[in-house]
Amino acid sequence: MKIVVIGDVHSNLPALEAVMKEIRENIKPDAILFAGDAVGYGPWPGETIDILKENVDFGVLGNHDAGIVGKTNINDYYDAVRYVINWTTDILTNDQFAFLDRLKYIHVDDRAHCLLSHGSPRMPERYDYIFNCRGVNRLYDVAPFLQKVNFVGHSHYTNLFLMTGNNQSVELNISGGEVDISTIPNPVVCVCGSVGQPRDGDPRSSFVSYDTEKQILRYHRVEYDFELTINKIKALRLPASFGERLRNGC
Ligand SMILES: [Fe+2]
Repeated sequence: MKIVVIGDVHSNLPALEAVMKEIRENIKPDAILFAGDAVGYGPWPGETIDILKENVDFGVLGNHDAGIVGKTNINDYYDAVRYVINWTTDILTNDQFAFLDRLKYIHVDDRAHCLLSHGSPRMPERYDYIFNCRGVNRLYDVAPFLQKVNFVGHSHYTNLFLMTGNNQSVELNISGGEVDISTIPNPVVCVCGSVGQPRDGDPRSSFVSYDTEKQILRYHRVEYDFELTINKIKALRLPASFGERLRNGC
């Protein structure tokens, strides 16, 4: 089967629409997995949730989503982030709120032999980032629970880590193209990028797809009109920096 993993949409509707068009027209997957953070930062939370609700087969709870439904303490977040989380909470319908509230911290897909979590799957409710091999090496603590492919989001980067045994791992620094993992015996950690707020210097939306039979991971980039998002953020008087950063993908 072919699956797609999208995450960190952050209420960026033009980005999500462009990604869904690419998925529909050129990938045609058997399932779409959502790696968390539907909302936060951006100006279209309700519309974003409605599209995810219609199209996603399985999803997990991101830290911004958790802030909305009261499953994480947002007092540690900086003021602008907290402001948008509170603004989002006020405008969601009960149905949209319920979609976020139903999301679990972790999803194991037996058909695709993969695991999905927003941050590190070691203690997913803590939302630890996986930025480097140090974060991956901690996953040896939960090795029996890992799958062949372990998808994470949260960092807004793309990457691929190979767990090489003996509490070690290797970082491949992947930002595009395909990787054949069929001959790799150990689990891999695939960092799936961000639809709505990529931070690797490339403003295009990023996500991944995986062919479970051929065991090929593919890293995708899609252009969208980020000026629409920047203008909407300004019109709603949300923190302007959450729009401006979209131009540079940072
Ligand atoms: Fe995020």
